[in-house]
Amino acid sequence: MMLRFKLNGEWIECEAEHNETLLDLLREKLGVKSVKRGCNVGECGACTVLLDGRPVNSCLLLAPLVEGRSVETLEGLRDKPIMRELIEAFVEDGAIQCGFCTPGMLISAYSLLSRNPKPSEGEVRRAIAGNLCRCTGYVNIVKAILDAAERLRGED
Ligand code: FES
Ligand code: FES
Repeated sequence: MMLRFKLNGEWIECEAEHNETLLDLLREKLGVKSVKRGCNVGECGACTVLLDGRPVNSCLLLAPLVEGRSVETLEGLRDKPIMRELIEAFVEDGAIQCGFCTPGMLISAYSLLSRNPKPSEGEVRRAIAGNLCRCTGYVNIVKAILDAAERLRGED
């Protein structure tokens, strides 16, 4: 089937199978490699993208369901002020080790800070609860998100 949706702000048309996941479409057909395949069953969050501004696991979503909707990935978000600040804080705070979880983690953090500029530590932890990290122990990730929020509020 032909599918038309907005990818990182631009309308695109592409062929998709009825049973193809959004993750497969993005990575294998459209070359969007920031979206990672971890578990492929909705448990690790490595494949997180924004669908109409909300984080979803793209490995669980059938591609035809994005018809007419907006999908955003790190490629399209990296120059937005919130994402730039998050990336800088992740690097400075040592919140990246192997980096496999990082794009999905950043998308969840971006979604949180877009809705809530002053989250508590608990709110940060809840926002990234669906993103598993096998390396960092989460402490530096939570710190980086709180630091980025503080800087975006001009409190640093
Ligand atoms: S790859 Fe989608 S949640 Fe793990
Ligand atoms: S940095 Fe390796 S899984 Fe998170």
